[in-house]
Amino acid sequence: MDRPLEASGLAKRFGPVRAVEGVSLGLDRGQALGLLGPNGAGKSTTLALLTGLRPPDSGRVRIFGHPAGSAAARARMGVTPQAAGFPDQLTPREVLHYAAARRAGLPGVDGVITAFGLERLIDRRMTGFSGGEVRRVALALAFVGQPGLVFLDEPTAGLDSVAQEAFRVVARSYVEGGGAMILTSHHWDEIEAVCDRILMIDQGRPVLEGRLGDLHARMRARRLAFTLPEGLAPPGWLQARKEGGRWQAESDDSDASLRRMVGEGLRFDDLTIEPLALKDIIARIGQENRV
Ligand SMILES: Nc1ncnc2c1ncn2[C@@H]1O[C@H](COP(=O)(O)OP(=O)(O)OP(=O)(O)O)[C@@H](O)[C@H]1O
Ligand SMILES: [Mg+2]
Repeated sequence: MDRPLEASGLAKRFGPVRAVEGVSLGLDRGQALGLLGPNGAGKSTTLALLTGLRPPDSGRVRIFGHPAGSAAARARMGVTPQAAGFPDQLTPREVLHYAAARRAGLPGVDGVITAFGLERLIDRRMTGFSGGEVRRVALALAFVGQPGLVFLDEPTAGLDSVAQEAFRVVARSYVEGGGAMILTSHHWDEIEAVCDRILMIDQGRPVLEGRLGDLHARMRARRLAFTLPEGLAPPGWLQARKEGGRWQAESDDSDASLRRMVGEGLRFDDLTIEPLALKDIIARIGQENRV
């Protein structure tokens, strides 16, 4: 069977700017890829090439075996662009039905209304919709019609915390149900919660890619967090710093660090030891590569 997404050798220039250069990626059913990188890295341009919104200067994209931009490809995919705008005089219901009718799957309009909390908004004209309200319609638009592949460009930018959590639930169940997803985000905890692999780009080029599980396994380091009685400070060798009222330190051998803390009689309390978060892993890999 054809893969949801297969792209190779993508490149795109805007005058002197190499927005995308040498990006290749593939997605199977039930996989979610997090595309990350700083502002201007080329994430949105990559999505524009993958979805067929822009033609690449070179490279090739197939969506379920069909060329990007073709009607057959578009019938199998959903998109939430970074900046979505809708005609003011339409209601979300009209927009969603319109999109669902063009997709190969079942309409599923009621499902996305509930999933994204659109009940109160669904029959209102979109004139005056708040930023977060527009965003929720744009998200529903990607998932309506049950496409096998969705592209989400900063899906939760501007959403309140309830809507952000709702998005994570929808995204995970979509992927568990066999959907394929590619999303960009500056919230790395969101990528960790939803994706099983990442591709990091910088100045259009891939700089890091892999399965999150493999990145975690590569890192023996752990994050230690604890409190100390007022006036006490951790020993210098631990290189701890205080964040949010707790002392935080990273250690490549947390067992040894803990034994040494106990041996030195440090009066710590409320200790937790956790694997590094994605942002710490990426910072470490960046440091290693710089050496
Ligand atoms: N239509 C365009 N014309 C000229 N330059 C463009 C155009 N679109 C993108 N660029 C440039 O290409 C580069 C990549 O832009 P892109 O929007 O893909 O970045 P991004 O990774 O999505 O950033 P952000 O995190 O800010 O959304 C930037 O330097 C941008 O200025
Ligand atoms: Mg962008």
